[in-house]
Amino acid sequence: MSSNLAGFHAPIRYGRTLTYALFDLCLHPEYLEPLRQEIHDNCTEEDGLVSDADLLLLDSFLKESSRLNGSETISLRRKALKNFNFSDGAHITAGDSVCVPLRAMGRDPAHFNDAHTFDGFRFAPKPGARRGIKYTENSPLYPYWGYGKESCPGRFYAAVAIKTTLVYMLRNYDFKLADETAPRTFSWRTTIIPRSSTKLLIRRREV
Ligand code: HEM
Repeated sequence: MSSNLAGFHAPIRYGRTLTYALFDLCLHPEYLEPLRQEIHDNCTEEDGLVSDADLLLLDSFLKESSRLNGSETISLRRKALKNFNFSDGAHITAGDSVCVPLRAMGRDPAHFNDAHTFDGFRFAPKPGARRGIKYTENSPLYPYWGYGKESCPGRFYAAVAIKTTLVYMLRNYDFKLADETAPRTFSWRTTIIPRSSTKLLIRRREV
């Protein structure tokens, strides 16, 4: 296992994913009430931790936030061991590196209805269905955690850690962006990074 990779990418990815989810909660306040209701219905007062099976709306919200705000524009990278022809005619030779364009795929109308619109409960179970598409679920159409045998082994831990923080924030604080129109990110190479200048106003909730 690449312990170096886990060491440096885990906290960075965790931090960015959480930051983007908080931005989305500020930009789409209509989700606050149903998310808080779900937390109220599924978590006890002392319960810091979240069972991954509960909180399906929060799970969907996080997945949708990550669909539109993936902190990396590309997902898995692979090096070709031999020459290969793709079905669309593209050709790579042994030694070439290939990347999957995660951000573009997440916004592709061929794969997502109304792809550029934030729909926080897009992945939640639909009425009559037993389950939705979970945040940690890997799919070739949404390779957020990579794909195949090298897909991220830390995703279950990451999902619970991010949800636990969001539950704490939603329960205890009201928050809003000081300026919704100010730029919130910048890009560096293939990465989209939150700006340190973005101000989030946070106030303890009166409950
Ligand atoms: C939001 C948080 C995270 C995201 C978005 C993320 C995403 C990814 C992606 C896209 C890959 C490449 C997979 C591939 O090439 O198919 C990967 C690999 C990996 N991740 Fe994460 N990750 C996250 C958090 C974590 C955490 C918390 C840990 C460990 C505690 C972790 C450990 C690893 C390791 C060890 C690999 C390399 C796996 C291998 O090469 O076999 N990740 N991750």
